Amino acid sequence: MDAQAWEKVDELIDKNQTKTIKDLFAEDPKRAERFSLEAAGWFLDYSKNRIDAATMKALVKLAEKANLKAEIEKMFTGKKINATEGRAVLHTALRNLDPKAKIKVDGKDVMPGVRKVLAQMGDFADTVRRGQWKGWTGKRIKYVVNIGIGGSDLGPVMANIALTPYAKRSLKFFFVSNVDSTHLAETLREVKADQTLFIVASKTFTTQETMSNAEAAKAWLVKELKDKKAVAKHFVAVSTAAKEVADFGIDTKNMFGFWDWVGGRYSLPSAIGLSLMIAIGRTNYKKLLRGYYKMDRHFRTARFERNMPVILALLGILYHNGYGAESYCVLPYDQYLSRFPAYLQQMDMESNGKCVTKDGEKVTYTTGPIEWGEPGTNGQHSFYQLIHQGTHLIPCDFIGCARTHNPIGDLHDKLMANLFAQTEALAFGKTAEECRKEGVDEKLVPFKTFEGNKPTNTLLTDELTPETLGALVALYEHKVFVQGVIWNVYSYDQWGVQLGKVLAKGVLSDLVAKKPSGRHDASTNQLIARYRRAVGR
Ligand code: F6P
Repeated sequence: MDAQAWEKVDELIDKNQTKTIKDLFAEDPKRAERFSLEAAGWFLDYSKNRIDAATMKALVKLAEKANLKAEIEKMFTGKKINATEGRAVLHTALRNLDPKAKIKVDGKDVMPGVRKVLAQMGDFADTVRRGQWKGWTGKRIKYVVNIGIGGSDLGPVMANIALTPYAKRSLKFFFVSNVDSTHLAETLREVKADQTLFIVASKTFTTQETMSNAEAAKAWLVKELKDKKAVAKHFVAVSTAAKEVADFGIDTKNMFGFWDWVGGRYSLPSAIGLSLMIAIGRTNYKKLLRGYYKMDRHFRTARFERNMPVILALLGILYHNGYGAESYCVLPYDQYLSRFPAYLQQMDMESNGKCVTKDGEKVTYTTGPIEWGEPGTNGQHSFYQLIHQGTHLIPCDFIGCARTHNPIGDLHDKLMANLFAQTEALAFGKTAEECRKEGVDEKLVPFKTFEGNKPTNTLLTDELTPETLGALVALYEHKVFVQGVIWNVYSYDQWGVQLGKVLAKGVLSDLVAKKPSGRHDASTNQLIARYRRAVGR
């Protein structure tokens, strides 16, 4: 992070220390308008933040000093910005709907491949949706089980729930991710083998959880249908690893490929979205891509002062690095977005949870905020108390849709009233004086006082549709990108998850060995011994 540019931001934080969000609104009647903008079907009101024009200008300077414009271009044009893995980062190519687009990696245009896989997915989704894809006994598919984890699960799950109103309801979708056998067992209780399609979704096709669940599902299917050949009719794969797919027993004709330049947590618009395309159909899927594409173009072309992902990223940095806010909260006021915070957790925390700069030096500032959240209004009756009156500063993004897919009485008005009221309460709070005016007993005044001055962003769209969902996902993807550029970290590798994977193999061999090796630390050895005793080994 550029030290000089940051110093300026810091100075302004100090200077404005005494001004609250309430003061800032009182000073400028045009503030709401000034700090709002529209892009790709989303309206962002970021006026309820601890900012003024000078702070925003200093933050934009920070982005400029990080060469953000050039970095954006590097990503969109396929430069190998994931340097520790020697890969390009081209999820934007997956939704580039310009028929003339050419994007080269290692001298080869990737776009024909992108379009080919999309068409292959569309054809396959059609045959399943129309009942033309028959299982081993000749029956049509009724159940689709996606087996994957991390980026090969969270995106499809989140979007499948989000786009329920667009889904073919005669098909039932399940997502198995955890290596906890309960996840698979409970799913298999819900489906019938001769009507089930398993999608094994794994970029590498080596991930322990996915491959173990896929093998177990295969064994179950063969047992149920009493023929190994049934596998070809009930298993397809989404992967970059053709050999591993063939070794598993899946016909590579039924493999939907993608490329090493698609990171797992950015892979929803790749073939990883196959289960979603089966659910909502190819036309709606294309609309999802259109939403992504609109936000991509906005991000690539808008000046930073009017660029939604850039603004969200800069505000995040302001609170994280300037005010010491360790986490931020994403609060969708839409039940269909119930898994959106979980999806964002991987996107953000696996990307920017890094402590080494691109030069291999330890960072001298904090990076990668902790992201969490729940749908409103549920969260209001759980953790909002701490956001309102606790000692931590937790900036929040509120997300709402003006129209509901399920109007019942005035429920939706109530939902949205709660959203707006929360941002109002967080920003403006309630003074001791106001409490007294309301006749609050003096003894209770300290408890009923709300400090306010809590920053929020509000994102509104007319309706949650495939297009607005695509734009929303792209908005956060680019926000995370911008923050990674400013923090000067590699956002597209994830070496931190490797060590646990490697150690788990060693522990597993000790759990099942005749005699454990005893080569771990005393605590781990003790836990292994206790487990072995409990299971009778
Ligand atoms: O958790 C690490 C990770 O590599 C994620 O980045 C990825 O989304 C997930 O595992 C699953 O990987 P794969 O798709 O290769 O099974």
